[in-house]
Amino acid sequence: MRILGIESSCDETGIAVYDSEHGLLAHALHSQVDMHAVYGGVVPELASRDHVRRVIPLIKSVLQEAGLSSSDIKGIAYTAGPGLIGALLVGVAVGRSLAYGWGIPAVAVHHMEAHLLAPMLEANPPRFPFIALLVSGGHTQLVQVNRPGDYVMLGESLDDAAGEAFDKTAKLLGLGYPGGPALSALADKGKPGRFEFPRPMTGRPGLDFSFSGLKTHAVNTIHREDDNQQTHADIARAFVDAVVDTLTIKCRRAMEETGINTLIAAGGVSANRQLREQLHGLTKKMGGRVYFPRPEFCTDNGAMIAYAGCLKLQAGKTEPLSFYARPRWPMMELNAV
Ligand code: KG4
Ligand code: ZN
Repeated sequence: MRILGIESSCDETGIAVYDSEHGLLAHALHSQVDMHAVYGGVVPELASRDHVRRVIPLIKSVLQEAGLSSSDIKGIAYTAGPGLIGALLVGVAVGRSLAYGWGIPAVAVHHMEAHLLAPMLEANPPRFPFIALLVSGGHTQLVQVNRPGDYVMLGESLDDAAGEAFDKTAKLLGLGYPGGPALSALADKGKPGRFEFPRPMTGRPGLDFSFSGLKTHAVNTIHREDDNQQTHADIARAFVDAVVDTLTIKCRRAMEETGINTLIAAGGVSANRQLREQLHGLTKKMGGRVYFPRPEFCTDNGAMIAYAGCLKLQAGKTEPLSFYARPRWPMMELNAV
């Protein structure tokens, strides 16, 4: 089964064709980062308009790259939420309409579910069940994944998402938007241990997270200390160490509590080098294994949407022609396929 995937939930237009027998055939991404950078964050209306401009040309070029025509596509998968309403509506409307025009089924995909299935696109995919650490710009979640669609929420952030904390702290250090990658690079130049940041909510039981206090801690440290490059790097290092330690501690706890020693990490922050290293160390110590999508599939992309949609359509899932976008969409409302 050959599926066209469309992602437009935030500031990236992602398109891909996934084939259940031959894997990923082609994919392309248009990032709006440069457009939003001048404003220091995503401007929703500009995001929607840019998706409108990009989505059709990108679909055409992906089909061409795969050497396919519209008649080769047997189903369409589009991100229906969570995300920005205007941005989502572009992919939803285009996906649903193309499917109607081409006379094929279409299916709505949950963006975070697609993130957690992204490691399945790699050569040696993890086996179910596994624990998924989802760390993106909007979400921080620990999920027990029994099989596609069968999820147990183990813990999540009570305030800022991990990526949001990275972006806000990066902004305080004048690193621009989105700051996650730049903050990680700056942290590499920092001295470990010069500043000690808290590991929020690790001292008590439970698997929830809270990251907004770390941002406050960063603000206070920046204001107190002198304003030079090495100090900024040392603060970045303290921040990244604190986030990565906190995520690692909660992953260990989730693995211990469930007895599942296969871990996956996905979402933008899982591209972070320090996090990958620590999770490798943790799972090795616990006799398990950690899996990551390749870095370009950690952040938003069309491939994960095409893959998640393919599983649903293969399982015979059908949806009416009416369509919806859900800016907020709890993942626990999903059903097993
Ligand atoms: O999954 P994603 O592309 O979009 C959402 O669904 O939110 O995640 C984007 C987030 C941003 O906050 C970005 O700063 C962060 O992921 N990010 C990183 C890295 N690469 C992206 N954070 C830390 N280290 C990185 N290397
Ligand atoms: Zn995402």
